[in-house]
Amino acid sequence: MTTTNVLDLPGVRPVHRIGFGAMQLAGPGVLGPPADPARAEAVLRRAVELGIDHIDTSDFYGPWVVNELIAKALRPYPDGLVLATKVGAYRDQHGGFPPLGHPDALKSQVHDNLRRLHLETLDVVYLRHTVDRPGITLQDQLGALVELREEGLLRGIGLSNVTPEQFEQAQAVTPIASVQNAYNVFDRTAAALLDRTAELGVPFVPFFPLGSAFVADSRVRGDQVVRTIAQRRGATPAQVSLAWLLHRSPNLLLIPGTSSIEHLEVNSSADRVELTDTDVAELDDLVPEGTALEQAQ
Ligand SMILES: NC(=O)c1ccc[n+]([C@@H]2O[C@H](COP(=O)([O-])OP(=O)(O)OC[C@H]3O[C@@H](n4cnc5c(N)ncnc54)[C@H](OP(=O)(O)O)[C@@H]3O)[C@@H](O)[C@H]2O)c1
Repeated sequence: MTTTNVLDLPGVRPVHRIGFGAMQLAGPGVLGPPADPARAEAVLRRAVELGIDHIDTSDFYGPWVVNELIAKALRPYPDGLVLATKVGAYRDQHGGFPPLGHPDALKSQVHDNLRRLHLETLDVVYLRHTVDRPGITLQDQLGALVELREEGLLRGIGLSNVTPEQFEQAQAVTPIASVQNAYNVFDRTAAALLDRTAELGVPFVPFFPLGSAFVADSRVRGDQVVRTIAQRRGATPAQVSLAWLLHRSPNLLLIPGTSSIEHLEVNSSADRVELTDTDVAELDDLVPEGTALEQAQ
């Protein structure tokens, strides 16, 4: 990872553009503990050793498992480590992520995350905005988080899984520290929102940057065009996909997810891959912005 490749998370601190998404550290289907918890802790410690200073997590992962692993592996937390978490949902017995968006529920989820991560202040709390009962507005939900920010329990308020309209509505309530929606070389449905956040200088953190673990043979990691470019650059398809994202917009912060130290090391050096104009044009042409291709090959 190149040490100069940093971006400011407004109201929080600057972080390297390549971070780590911790969701893959839970068991299969993001449920229960991993088969080898010591290995998962080693991944987290290696991330910090590599200079990664932005870890994306949530009580949803496991549930609770990933936050507990983070606290066990990384406390006392190194100076400058940004932990970003999410509220607005819970895990049901089928492994789903149903919404839980009442302002009181959001507040108690913030307290749960603080307790499980052993923190007094959360760096970034993403609101997964969904309405699970009539009468609750985005404004009410943000109001709850603003109150907690005023109490010093969190620094930055983020938004996840939002439309461009909801982003504008939210910005009218409070400055948004970052936005987290799905985006990758084959899924560009969030392009308009990405461009708008870039215009305003708000970081955009694409989830599923590698096509997600829910798709076994994601095109992002295995498409022939991506593979050919990877061969030309002496890189891996994952690195090429991440390097394209870094090139796509200067406000992108990456949180590739992995349960493997080897993949973590590969991903963290994606900013050393130098794509040529031809490489970028070929990757740009794979999917029109604003649309997505099926990710399975
Ligand atoms: N806000 C939201 O609603 C939301 C939703 C989903 C995810 N997220 C966040 O976004 C992060 C990233 O998403 P994600 O983890 O679901 O998907 P992802 O980063 O797109 O892909 C993860 C998958 O790619 C594989 N992988 C990682 N590095 C690789 C490499 N170098 N070569 C080959 N395969 C590689 C992983 O397998 P291995 O484990 O074998 O490496 C895993 O199967 C999550 O960890 C989570 O923090 C947020």
